[in-house]
Amino acid sequence: MKLPPVSMMVAMTPKGVIGNKGSMPWHLARDMKRFVKFTTNSAVVMGPKTYASLPPKHRPLKNRLNIVLTSNRDYKPEPDVLVAHNPSQALELAAIKGWHEFFVIGGAMVYMSFLQYAETLYVTYVDADIKGDTYFPHWEKEDWREVWLESEWKQPEGDHYPTRFAEYRRVIHATPTKEISWRHPDELRAKMLEKSEEPKKITYKAPKKTKKKAAKKHKPKIRARKKKARR
Ligand SMILES: NC(=O)c1ccc[n+]([C@@H]2O[C@H](COP(=O)([O-])OP(=O)(O)OC[C@H]3O[C@@H](n4cnc5c(N)ncnc54)[C@H](OP(=O)(O)O)[C@@H]3O)[C@@H](O)[C@H]2O)c1
Repeated sequence: MKLPPVSMMVAMTPKGVIGNKGSMPWHLARDMKRFVKFTTNSAVVMGPKTYASLPPKHRPLKNRLNIVLTSNRDYKPEPDVLVAHNPSQALELAAIKGWHEFFVIGGAMVYMSFLQYAETLYVTYVDADIKGDTYFPHWEKEDWREVWLESEWKQPEGDHYPTRFAEYRRVIHATPTKEISWRHPDELRAKMLEKSEEPKKITYKAPKKTKKKAAKKHKPKIRARKKKARR
């Protein structure tokens, strides 16, 4: 079975905020238009919280195969909504139903579950310095090539903040240390099929540098100083 390639769509502030108290902390018609344009006629996968946050009149999202990812075996989907219990099952469902485009549309936990398999990342940067409780997961910028960044911020009337669109593709690294960070898409998808295990419960925290990392960085210097002192 040929699985569709994985794309992600997200709107985030420069600090990575994507949501607050179960919904998006903005109204951005410009972003919505792009979202509809890109995802129409595609399979879309989302978490139950994100599904619940959609306005009832837009649920399920029209002209798209709606898949909700949940570990809850008793989850009762609305009519025309499919349920998957792990990322590979979601992809398989899309393939079986004949959908060739596959978009991960959030929220944080679902982005995190699919990030290692994603090939394209469509970002809407939101020029807002606002607090939120949900963040896009940490992504290694060097694993991604920016293929397009809008030259300027735009804010049509009615939009809460200026926005700027960007598109990233996964990079093939030539250096040996980075070799494992990229696999051919077919290989990536095959790997997903192998990994159809039950999902682990993930608690998500905002990305920030840990003290542990900082300590590691300074360790060699400390050792060097000790050596010097011994001499
Ligand atoms: N700015 C944007 O572009 C954007 C887009 C979408 C959403 N959002 C915002 O993000 C927030 C919601 O994000 P969230 O992280 O709290 O919730 P979520 O991602 O919508 O849902 C989280 C749930 O998804 C399920 N899940 C995730 N990974 C799974 C896996 N590998 N296998 C099985 N189930 C899995 C789990 O459901 P169970 O607990 O039922 O197992 C998990 O509790 C809201 O504020 C929303 O508005 C923002």
